[in-house]
Amino acid sequence: MSGPTLKTPSQGFGSGKLILFGEHAVVYGVPAIVAGLSRGAYAKARRLGSHMARLSLFDASTSPSRLLVRVERGQSDPLALAWHKILLEFSELDGVEVEVQLDIPAGSGLGSSAALATACARALSHLAHERQPAIDDPRVERAVAQAEGIFHGSASGIDQAASIYGGVFRFERDGGTGRRTNLTTSGLHLAICQAAPGASTATQVQRVRELLTRRGGSGQQLLGLVREVVQEAELALAARDWSALGDLMNINHGALGAMGVSTQALDHACHIAREAGALGAKLTGAGGGGCVFALTPSGADDVLDQWHAHGWEAFTVTLS
Ligand code: PMV
Repeated sequence: MSGPTLKTPSQGFGSGKLILFGEHAVVYGVPAIVAGLSRGAYAKARRLGSHMARLSLFDASTSPSRLLVRVERGQSDPLALAWHKILLEFSELDGVEVEVQLDIPAGSGLGSSAALATACARALSHLAHERQPAIDDPRVERAVAQAEGIFHGSASGIDQAASIYGGVFRFERDGGTGRRTNLTTSGLHLAICQAAPGASTATQVQRVRELLTRRGGSGQQLLGLVREVVQEAELALAARDWSALGDLMNINHGALGAMGVSTQALDHACHIAREAGALGAKLTGAGGGGCVFALTPSGADDVLDQWHAHGWEAFTVTLS
């Protein structure tokens, strides 16, 4: 299947995300540290002469890019429903076609759905107003929130914040929404690998909730540990103390294991990365499958070689 064919389209980008520290604990008010990635979703939109509203999603990791799915208004699967919600925000556009290139794995904790929604909404806003939307365009925010509501139910808002604003930030749940505080870091070199298909975030969150309810005091101690890890990680990021940051990733991964959300494959991928020279490694996101990332300040070649040898997709990112 060939890639996009749109002529002079309007464009939009949405960032993928990586939760560096604090997933799951963030549900209970502990801050998380999150990074928007320079990878994510790229959308191109153009008007159609008819009333048709079509969304095509391509996997950009293949050459030529491969069509994953195509949806139209009126279908009832989650992607089509989310697409419908985004279109409602831009209802002055009648006939429209959007093509999206996704260059992160879908459904594995890297925020692909929010990246897709942000890219689509930005491209549609560009088309409607004939200029790129402002970064905090309220129409884009509303469209992405509506789409995320379809994909994730009551999501914490981490993915949306990362997909729209990018950067490295502290995220705290604040009632129904989230508070985002930018953090400074530079030259943070990471390798990311998808070690298993992603699991349902809702199921994983419920699993942790049950454990914390069962265990009472020791569950609270676990949350306290993650809170301490996040505080120290903020200092380590600012100081570019990669050795400390690696230790803290390993500790946070251990806490996530204790919460019951790591798996044999995720643990294995972390061990392999550490043995190949990474300073630290942890799962990211809801767990039960999905991705791990490793801290590789002196280069990621050995880590990537080892992961690839196990048949896992992997790539590097630098956060600046
Ligand atoms: O859906 P994921 O894999 O990006 O994980 C979401 C992070 C959690 O802390 C587990 C849940 C949440 O809503 O914050």
